[in-house]
Amino acid sequence: MKSQHVPVYRPPAARARRMARATGWLARTLLGLVSIVFAASGPARAADGGVLVLGGTGQLGAEVVRSLAAAGERVSVLARPTSSRARLDGLPVTFVSGDMLSDADMKRVFEARSYRVVVDASNAPFDAPQDFYEKSQRIVARWAAASGVRQLILHGAIGAGDSAALIDVGKAMEVQRKAIESKTVAEGILVASGVPYTIIRHLTLLPVQFRESGQARLSTDRTVVGAVTRDGLARLTRDCLDNPRCMNVIFHAVDEQLVVPDRVLENWKKIVKPEYMPKTGRR
Ligand SMILES: NC(=O)c1ccc[n+]([C@@H]2O[C@H](COP(=O)([O-])OP(=O)(O)OC[C@H]3O[C@@H](n4cnc5c(N)ncnc54)[C@H](OP(=O)(O)O)[C@@H]3O)[C@@H](O)[C@H]2O)c1
Repeated sequence: MKSQHVPVYRPPAARARRMARATGWLARTLLGLVSIVFAASGPARAADGGVLVLGGTGQLGAEVVRSLAAAGERVSVLARPTSSRARLDGLPVTFVSGDMLSDADMKRVFEARSYRVVVDASNAPFDAPQDFYEKSQRIVARWAAASGVRQLILHGAIGAGDSAALIDVGKAMEVQRKAIESKTVAEGILVASGVPYTIIRHLTLLPVQFRESGQARLSTDRTVVGAVTRDGLARLTRDCLDNPRCMNVIFHAVDEQLVVPDRVLENWKKIVKPEYMPKTGRR
């Protein structure tokens, strides 16, 4: 006699439970696979290794470091063996050793920790080659992209990129012209790198003994020109950290309430086109 297949009766609730278990298993397996794939890729690997400040031993960089440390950020500072660390005495920072012009150094620095944000406040002295900005940015942006840095804040100069029209570069010193040319290239490298960027351009950084008026601001109007202090810039840099309004934006930084020394006004008269001359008081 031919055996007959007798269907087993399962109550609807039991069937639903089995179905839910199977669906749950499938979802967990898929989620696991997705996390493995993402963990292997750059951007998702970026843990919060804090903020790396390039040029953090310098005048602007040290103000940025102080401001970030006061805000409770975990701050690492790139220093060369020859760097003086005096400006950072007593601050809770970690020093990492390296030269921004060395690809091997930057590879090591970026592979050792997954930084969330990088602030580039570096500067080439007047007697050093002024192509420093493009050379260093080519290396820094590449390793920042590879390690999944979520924001690179670059301090640049008014006169670079689309702000060239504000300045009569022919009247600037040769060294300034070369620096501006290189900063233009550096901006382009950063923008093309794919790393979310914030570029903060400034024209005149007053000496460190000048303190901000409290009105220092970042403008997206890139015809705005003026002076700014390093502590003002440090505050504005800190406010831009992880801030969606600062992502992939180029700003001009100014503090219009500052009273600037006569020598600064004389310099502006020489290099800033008359229609863009800042309306700042004089000292
Ligand atoms: N001065 C102005 O009026 C003015 C105007 C417009 C824009 N800016 C811009 O503002 C920013 C800051 O200027 P600043 O005068 O405050 O800077 P700064 O005091 O001259 O400090 C420069 C920093 O860059 C570091 N650095 C230079 N070359 C390096 C390299 N190869 N590898 C690693 N680190 C290196 C220095 O390290 P060490 O300590 O080892 O030397 C130092 O920490 C710069 O982008 C500058 O161009 C300045």
